[in-house]
Amino acid sequence: MENKRIATLTLDDGRSIELPILSGTLGPDVIDIRALSKLGMFTYDPAFLSTASCSSSITFIDGDAGQLYYRGYPIEQLAERSNFLEVCYLLLHGELPNAAQKVEFKGKVTQHTMVHDQLARFFNGFRRDAHPMAVMVGVVGALSAFYHDSLDINNPAHREISALRLLAKVPTIAAMTYKYYTGFPFMYPKNSFSYVENLMYMMFATPAEEYVPNPKLVRALERILILHADHEQNASTSTVRLAGSSGANPFACVSSGIAALWGPAHGGANEAVLKMLEEIGDVSRVADFMKGVKDKKYRLMGFGHRVYKNMDPRAKVMRETCYEVLQELKLENDPIFKMALELEQIALRDEYFIERKLYPNVDFYSGIVLRALGIPTNMFTVIFAVARTIGWVSQWNEMISDSERKIGRPRQLYQGAAKRDYVALEQRK
Ligand code: ACO
Repeated sequence: MENKRIATLTLDDGRSIELPILSGTLGPDVIDIRALSKLGMFTYDPAFLSTASCSSSITFIDGDAGQLYYRGYPIEQLAERSNFLEVCYLLLHGELPNAAQKVEFKGKVTQHTMVHDQLARFFNGFRRDAHPMAVMVGVVGALSAFYHDSLDINNPAHREISALRLLAKVPTIAAMTYKYYTGFPFMYPKNSFSYVENLMYMMFATPAEEYVPNPKLVRALERILILHADHEQNASTSTVRLAGSSGANPFACVSSGIAALWGPAHGGANEAVLKMLEEIGDVSRVADFMKGVKDKKYRLMGFGHRVYKNMDPRAKVMRETCYEVLQELKLENDPIFKMALELEQIALRDEYFIERKLYPNVDFYSGIVLRALGIPTNMFTVIFAVARTIGWVSQWNEMISDSERKIGRPRQLYQGAAKRDYVALEQRK
């Protein structure tokens, strides 16, 4: 990055400082404010709305134009022409694999799909009705306890094997989580299946019956995974980076990402969409519900996005997939789906939403697709975590390899009491 352009900041006391302006490959320029500390000042930017916390070469988003690229490739092309494991390779290594690399990568991931038998015992400590994300946070974090031989984060070979382990084992743990609360036996991975077929097999098969994956449904889940694989510095990814900046191991970092993803404003949104639809209950109540949204009593879940102020490009792909899946399963007349489509149409025409640039986001449709695939609502965010694991790992790996890496340490604008002296108990009012 060349620092030719300068922004000059002048304070009301006459002091001034020159700050370099940096340009990336795409996207807005950024002002490098690191020299500000020379003035003994910081910037104030709650929720990091105007702050680039790192430089990255993985994912690019232009929210106004509705563009999302992984390593330069538009998401629409990847969703149409690639598959999830190839996208994982791309995110992790920066380039699409050639034929030999692709086979080798699949082989490496496949070798790691089983979990240590001891790990299965962790599940028994959870209540059967625990939220699957609570179980995921615990069990994925527990992976840290199994690989003492390869937790040197400064060793690239250790980082690679940890990345492969996470990519391979998170689907197995996700499926075990589902089996645990439904009371069915765990299904061991079957490595003759593709990555996505295997995930469906471990979730839906039982030892009692043959399981034959439906290719159209596999493709739909594959798309969900591709679309959710990375999304630059969102809340969960920033959490993984911040945890990782302290030198914490990748399993612990990914577990922190899962915890951040759980919230309804982030990965919990598709679950919240389905809950909302169930609460509305019937198409005849949609108009009333929309009145409540506009009166700001509650939000229309699955609409709006912090970054996309135009149609989320992932939502476009997911919308198509949604219609394909509903057709394949002959679910077009299912009341929940009818209601979702009614809501979508009303919101797209309504001034309240148009004015505020609120469009359906990817989770509005992914929730509908996941439900149609037979995945229960409380597993939706778990599937999101399966998809995002590769994004977290790639971002973590990039951060550790960055020569400018330092422990993350945001500052604050302190608004509390000024210095005061301790008051003895008998003198307090
Ligand atoms: N329903 C109704 N009104 C909304 C919604 C919504 N879903 N989202 C935003 N608004 C309104 C706000 O009330 C506000 O109105 P005002 O200007 O009259 O005060 C305006 O739009 C701007 O809202 P902000 O909260 O400033 O928008 P922000 O960009 O911070 O929020 C967010 C983004 C959190 C995603 C929000 O749109 C939301 O809560 N959506 C519903 C939850 C959801 O679907 N999250 C998924 C995100 S995608 C993902 O994580 C993969």
